[in-house]
Amino acid sequence: MRVLSGVQSNGKLHLGNYLGAMKQHIELQRENECFYFIANYHSLTTVQDAKLLRQLTVDVALDYLAFGLDPNKANLFRQSDIPEVTELAWILSTVTGKGLLERATSYKDKIAKEIAPSMGLFCYPVLMAADILIYKSDMVPVGKDQTQHVEMAADMAGHFNHAFGCEILKLPKLRLNEAHVVPGLDGQKMSKSYGNTINLFDPPKKVRKQIMGIKTDSTPVEDPKNPETCNVFAIYKLLANADEVAALDEKYRGGGMGYGEAKQQLFEVAERVLGPARERRGELEADTDYVEDVLNTAAGRARAVAGEVMAEVREVCGLMVGKGTHRG
Ligand code: ADP
Ligand code: TRP
Repeated sequence: MRVLSGVQSNGKLHLGNYLGAMKQHIELQRENECFYFIANYHSLTTVQDAKLLRQLTVDVALDYLAFGLDPNKANLFRQSDIPEVTELAWILSTVTGKGLLERATSYKDKIAKEIAPSMGLFCYPVLMAADILIYKSDMVPVGKDQTQHVEMAADMAGHFNHAFGCEILKLPKLRLNEAHVVPGLDGQKMSKSYGNTINLFDPPKKVRKQIMGIKTDSTPVEDPKNPETCNVFAIYKLLANADEVAALDEKYRGGGMGYGEAKQQLFEVAERVLGPARERRGELEADTDYVEDVLNTAAGRARAVAGEVMAEVREVCGLMVGKGTHRG
């Protein structure tokens, strides 16, 4: 099965990104052909600083490799190394109703957060559809907030196939992780743009401070507490094993435990995941040639697939390539 997903390079990755997206991406490499890319074209909608964008792009690559992405099993590349996706995005935009994009909830959310309403932001789902369709992807693992975008990609594939009387574009299937929405320090969805994150690669002291800052209610230490409504427990459940979860659940319900203790336990299980990745990332940071090599090799493989699909697309649309036109 061909699996595809993308991650924007627009800030430090956090526990929500890891549990909602990266973890399953890395697990899927075992049994599938995976294409994962760093969505730097998409990031241009919010990051317009060349040096910063370059750095954030390499950071995402380092993060994935540090958490165990194996470049021999999965292809990790930069979106912009496959410029054909922008060509497909244009072609898809000609078969996509404006109304479909106007219904995109993430566009409305971003406008509400006062991100400039550029055409790039508005057409974001079309580029995302091109990312998915250009590799004839079977499955797209993403977090819940991206569901609508994947459904739109399937709609666009259907519209294209119908308009040109073909079956070239494959309708992708969505795959959601069980950790649908990881709460942030304030109980809202954990997100870079809400400033409520536990970052994956901050030093342990800072991670501890972030965890100690998770919002809890004011139930006194001696009283029983409800694990089901507690943000600390909600994140703990996603990191600890079943026995650990059962034990902490009992402590909550039994009373006599303060939230500080639950937070300390959360810190310890979080460090079990973050500690080794932090160490590995330190080693990779010192080997920039290796990281470049991983990205370039994977881009070559991805571009070969994209090139073949685009040849079919151009043909069926009547966009023949003239003599002397060089297409990489
Ligand atoms: P952010 O909201 O921090 O900007 P992105 O929108 O860049 O995060 O998300 C990157 C990936 O991580 C997406 O697949 C998204 O669904 C997933 N993701 C982000 N935040 C969370 C969260 N709090 N819970 C679950 N998944 C998340
Ligand atoms: N929009 C996705 C996000 O913010 C990133 C992305 C871009 C993506 N293109 C994609 C995800 C294609 C999956 C498939 O998380």
